[in-house]
Amino acid sequence: MPTTWPYPRVLAHRGGGALAPENTLAALETGARHGHTMVEFDVKLSADDVAYLLHDDTVNRTSDGTGESAEFTFAELSELDAGSWFAPEFAGVRMPSFARAAARCRELGLLANVEIKPNPGTDAATGRAVALAAADLWSGAAVPPLLSSFSATALAAAAEAVPDQPRGMLYERIPADWKTETAALGCVSLHADHSELDEALVATIRAAGLRILAYTVNDPARARELASWGVDLVCTDRIDTIGPGFLG
Ligand code: G3P
Ligand code: MG
Repeated sequence: MPTTWPYPRVLAHRGGGALAPENTLAALETGARHGHTMVEFDVKLSADDVAYLLHDDTVNRTSDGTGESAEFTFAELSELDAGSWFAPEFAGVRMPSFARAAARCRELGLLANVEIKPNPGTDAATGRAVALAAADLWSGAAVPPLLSSFSATALAAAAEAVPDQPRGMLYERIPADWKTETAALGCVSLHADHSELDEALVATIRAAGLRILAYTVNDPARARELASWGVDLVCTDRIDTIGPGFLG
């Protein structure tokens, strides 16, 4: 793991933010086309244990299918249209495997924040599988992917499988024991809903030796404020107005 923080100041949420169907290769390509150098995407395991990109626990919102995502094999998921829901020009876009998404990131020169997004009851299995796959998919890369999860169980399994890999704990609400928990999981960073952060808390977290990622920051003035407090990285849907160089 590099000893210095190798990531930029801004990353594109779900690949292409609000400008492409989330968690698809088209999204990664949209992020890159807007000049972004880092993307975030969500990874789950299919019923036959293939790691692939999807946010929700159902396929309903972001594809033309219906049902619990955990019940689909990857071949079945691959039959679904994951682009038409967003806009007609994305018709036929598929949910990519993690392997294909990683390869596309590397081709496009995109760094990655891989969010481990387990379906209920699969936290440890998903954490382990994603960590092992990430180590393999970014083998030899100058900058490793930054793994993150809202699931401490998933991150603990990831840490056990691949100890020497950067990890960040995701919090929708920052708990009182954030310092103990992030230390126990060997995290390099704390990833928080930006509304949870204020100047004093940012200073406290940084003083504990953690980097900070704030999501999902869509107001340029708020992005500048967070950066001025010492937030390292902002995750945005507004990949156009909060561009790759927006925070310098
Ligand atoms: O990792 C930041 C962000 O992606 C976390 O929330 O729900 O968009 O995955 P969500
Ligand atoms: Mg996410």
